[in-house]
Amino acid sequence: MSWIREGELNLIERLSANVLKAGPVPKHVAFIMDGNRRFARKKHVDRQEGHSQGFNKLAETLRWCLQLDIPEVTVYAFSIENFNRSREEVDGLMELAKLKFLRLLDERDKLEKHGVCIRVLGDLTLLPLDLQQLIAKAVVATREHNRCFLNVCFAYTSRHEMANAVREMAWGVEQGLIKASDVSEALLSECLYSSNSPNPDLLIRTSGEVRLSDFLLWQTSHSCLVFQSVLWPEYSFWNLCDAVIQYQCNHASIMKARELHQDEQRRQQLEADHACVAELLHHHGNGKPADGPRRQEAVAEYGLRREARVKDFLEALRNKRDSFLTQLASQAT
Ligand code: FPP
Ligand code: MG
Repeated sequence: MSWIREGELNLIERLSANVLKAGPVPKHVAFIMDGNRRFARKKHVDRQEGHSQGFNKLAETLRWCLQLDIPEVTVYAFSIENFNRSREEVDGLMELAKLKFLRLLDERDKLEKHGVCIRVLGDLTLLPLDLQQLIAKAVVATREHNRCFLNVCFAYTSRHEMANAVREMAWGVEQGLIKASDVSEALLSECLYSSNSPNPDLLIRTSGEVRLSDFLLWQTSHSCLVFQSVLWPEYSFWNLCDAVIQYQCNHASIMKARELHQDEQRRQQLEADHACVAELLHHHGNGKPADGPRRQEAVAEYGLRREARVKDFLEALRNKRDSFLTQLASQAT
C-alpha cells in the first residue's frame, strides 16, 4: 500500500466537505492511531495484519485531510513505551516501518508532484541502524517539499522530547551560544522535534481510550481534543468530519486561549529582559539607578541582542540536526 492514496470523494462526501470548508478548518491535525490489535482480534487476523491495515488507514486518512484542505498531519506511529511489547510485535512493527519507508523512496516522484514533506519526530538512535538510515534517507528526500506535511512520531514520547529540548538548551549554554537567562518557554518550543510545525489545532485519539499516552503534551495545551470509539483501521471519512465539527464548535474559545497565552509569553519575556538589564545596570552603573528612558532603551537593546543570540543558537541546532540526518542518509544502502 502506497503513502499517497489516489481516489475521489463520492458526491455526498464532496458536498459535506464543501460545507465543512465554509467554516474554520484545522491547519494541523494529530492522530493517536489506536486499536489495531483489537481490530485484528475482532476480524480474526494476526496482530501484524492489524498494524498493516492501520498503515493503510493512515494513507486513506491523509487523502481525506488533503481533500478537506488540512495541510499538516502528525501521527503517533511508535511510542518509546511500545519497545516494551513482545519481541515479535516490536520486530513486526520495525519490519513494517522498513517496508513503508522503502516504499516511500520508490514513490519520490509522486511525493514531489503533491509537494509532500515527510518528517520523522523521535529519538532515531533507539532504532535499528538500518531503519535509522532508511528513515534519514526518506526525510532528506522530501525535506524541500512544502505543500503538505506528514510528521511521523516514531520512537517518540513527549517527555523524552522535552528532556531532549532541555539538553539542547544546556548544550547552547555550554557552547556559549546562549545565556542561561535566554531559556524560556518559547525557546524550549523551538528546541522540540516539532519546532518546524505550528501546534496541532485538533488531536484525535481512536479506540475509546481517553488519555494522551505521552503524545505532544507540550504542543496540545490549546488544541481541541477529540476521543472517538472507532478502532483505527475502521476509521472513516465521517469520523474525521465529526472531529472537524467538534473543532469548529470550539474554535472561538481555542483562539481566545491561544491569544491570552501569547500575550502572557510576551509579558514574561519583557519581565525577564527587564530583570537582566536591572542586573547589568547594577553591575556596570556603579549602583546608580538608571532613569526611565535610559532603562527603556537598555531593555530594547538587550531584547535585540537576545534575539540575535537565540537566532544563531537555533541555526547551530538546525545545522547539528541536519548533519546528523545527512550523514545517516549517506550511509543508507
Ligand atoms: C496502536 O494500536 C498502534 C500502534 C502502536 C502502531 C501504529 C502503527 C501504524 C498504524 C503503522 C504506521 C507505520 C508507519 C511506518 C507510519 P495498538 O497496537 O495499541 O492496538 P490496541 O489498542 O487494540 O491494543
Ligand atoms: Mg493501544
